[in-house]
Amino acid sequence: MDSFEKIASLAKRRGFIYPGSEIYGGLAGTWDYGPLGVELKRNLKNEFWRSTVQLRDDVVGIDASIVMSPKVWEASGHLESFSDPLVECKKCHHRFRADQLDDSVCTDCGGELTAPKQFNLMVETYLGVVEGEKLKTYLRGEITQGVHVNFKNVLTSTRVKLPFGIAQIGKAFRNEITPGGFTFRSREFEQMELQFYVKPDMDESMKWFEYWKQERMNWYHSLGIKKENLHFKEHAKDELAHYARAAFDIEYRVDNVWKEMEGVHHRGDWDVKRHQEFSKEDMTYFDEETKERYLPYIIETSGGVDRATLFFLIDAYEEEKLEGGDERVVLKLHSKLAPYKAAVFPLLANKPDLVKLAKTIHDDLKRELMVTWDDRGNIGKRYRAQDEVGTPFCITVDFESLEKGDITVRDRDSMKQDRVSIKELRSYLAKKLG
Ligand code: GAP
Repeated sequence: MDSFEKIASLAKRRGFIYPGSEIYGGLAGTWDYGPLGVELKRNLKNEFWRSTVQLRDDVVGIDASIVMSPKVWEASGHLESFSDPLVECKKCHHRFRADQLDDSVCTDCGGELTAPKQFNLMVETYLGVVEGEKLKTYLRGEITQGVHVNFKNVLTSTRVKLPFGIAQIGKAFRNEITPGGFTFRSREFEQMELQFYVKPDMDESMKWFEYWKQERMNWYHSLGIKKENLHFKEHAKDELAHYARAAFDIEYRVDNVWKEMEGVHHRGDWDVKRHQEFSKEDMTYFDEETKERYLPYIIETSGGVDRATLFFLIDAYEEEKLEGGDERVVLKLHSKLAPYKAAVFPLLANKPDLVKLAKTIHDDLKRELMVTWDDRGNIGKRYRAQDEVGTPFCITVDFESLEKGDITVRDRDSMKQDRVSIKELRSYLAKKLG
């Protein structure tokens, strides 16, 4: 089993990620996040927001709509250039992305393939109620354009000054020819982006480009991903997207293959210039220091929330051999990402005094932290179940707890146990969780 299959199986079994519309046979390229997955993904997005918006004085956030005027996509170049080369098997009619094939025959039946033609990835939709007068538009192919069309709104409604950034997190849609690799290439997915506006000066903009490359790499490191599994890959000139002047990907290594997780792009003034041209609205920035008007350059960091979630899961997954021949599967997720920070157990489910005290502790902790409860089976099984979903701490209430007012806290990674007084439990966890 490769890493994608292992994680897909664990994700389904333990409530992280399910195939979309599964009871109807599924819908290719769509996924639903279950109770554990929604917590993990939300934690990841919160960490992005905290480091990119909350902790910075030069970045603000927005949340633009998914459906935009079709003119936006004309201006951004997506209707013309946002496409992949498609080939079709003349025999079995399966479709492939020409740039992903090593050979020029069908990988399913060996049949001959058609010549490649460009296939546009934008997902069409129709708005309005009157048949025949509905407006044909698109679900956004990238979240980026919702930021650029609001560049002037943000300038006039806040006190930002260049250089500054606008961050956004949200859904994007692409009619991918070959969705696959579990959630790696989906047709509906989330992005977390920063559009950082700077003076239109190549030297200065390249400094910011380097700065943001490093910031984004540091962010992944800070959340515990293994450093040896990350690197930068530069786009060759012929690989650059239609808007990009320079681009690097942050790639993650899965089973010895490097895969794109995030892109850092120098977009020049492409977006603001094109929106100015197509909307006829003035998109220039007035520089109070130099008294000049100009269109800013844009440095973009564009990460996939679902891809990062998937790679954090793969990176955290370990199968460990324990003393005595036992094995455990453990997700060594950073505590900031872990769906549950702690699990609370009464040693025995049929002892009302233990259950009562454990409930009190659980209800007290849940006001501050995402915690869970388990009273099934024996303690060993409960530990294994929490290891498998990455819960950093398990708290057990036993008979001594009733007498002495303390409990056992077991650490997921070291499996060591500490005896901690109930009064100090909150500060103990706060210190450990950081
Ligand atoms: N605004 C620039 C932009 O959208 P991109 O390289 O096309 O750039 C950025 O996408 C990130 O979005 C990728 O690095 C990836 O993490 C994520 N992404 C793109 N297509 C995806 C798909 N089909 N499924 C899941 N994530 C995707």
